[in-house]
Amino acid sequence: MPVRPEGSSPWATRCTDSCPTHAELAEALCRIRRGARGDGRSQTEGHFHEEAAAAATAAVTALQSLRGHGRLASGQSVLINGASGGVGTFATQIARILGARVTGVCGAAKADHVRSLGAEMVYDYKTTRLSQIAERFDVVFDAASNSSFEECSQLLNPGGTYVVLLPSLALMTGMFLSLFTSKRCRFVTVQPTAADLAQLGAWFDEGKLKPILDTPIHSLSCRRR
Ligand SMILES: NC(=O)c1ccc[n+]([C@@H]2O[C@H](COP(=O)([O-])OP(=O)(O)OC[C@H]3O[C@@H](n4cnc5c(N)ncnc54)[C@H](OP(=O)(O)O)[C@@H]3O)[C@@H](O)[C@H]2O)c1
Repeated sequence: MPVRPEGSSPWATRCTDSCPTHAELAEALCRIRRGARGDGRSQTEGHFHEEAAAAATAAVTALQSLRGHGRLASGQSVLINGASGGVGTFATQIARILGARVTGVCGAAKADHVRSLGAEMVYDYKTTRLSQIAERFDVVFDAASNSSFEECSQLLNPGGTYVVLLPSLALMTGMFLSLFTSKRCRFVTVQPTAADLAQLGAWFDEGKLKPILDTPIHSLSCRRR
């Protein structure tokens, strides 16, 4: 059964209500990109594979972290630590699509790139520690996963959410401490769903979301039926 109404994004047409695997997710994007160009065997086909590989896990992780766990909504603010990375570049774009204001943290060399994705402000992690940032945010998304709830709690507005991608002792401590405040501490284990796939597909098809590739990998290929 298709997961979306006819006429909307073609990205998810082949997915069912059952949860797609990461490989299926990547394959779906390959098919859409080939179909959109009408050239199933074009010279640029390799790029479809690269986009798909880059998009599959990272984009779903970013979406579930911000909209799902972070409950990020239009008009809110988010700090993204690791904004220039695989997950972070999608998170920056998705936060903007959701209508949030984005502050990024990354290396100085990629600051302009993160700004170009929609961040209003970018901090260099080599010169500014998270604890030195004066602003307050509704969501702190640590895509780099090298901070702790304790460290980032002061960056959160009351009721705000800290979201991290790697489990650690600090995460356990953070979850315990969050029981005594209005601020939440969340850990993400990405689980692709057909609904998220359809949403991301629509954004890709509308040109709102773009995979960012800094190193082409030409050996990737998609299974053909
Ligand atoms: N839980 C899950 O389901 C899930 C899903 C996907 C990924 N992950 C995990 O999420 C993490 C991020 O993945 P990714 O693909 O986005 O990694 P990545 O592409 O390597 O990006 C890492 C990011 O961290 C930044 N960074 C490096 N050192 C930093 C520091 N000291 N302070 C702040 N930022 C720093 C990098 O900035 P520069 O490049 O500008 O230096 C870059 O933006 C990985 O650990 C991965 O295993 C978890």
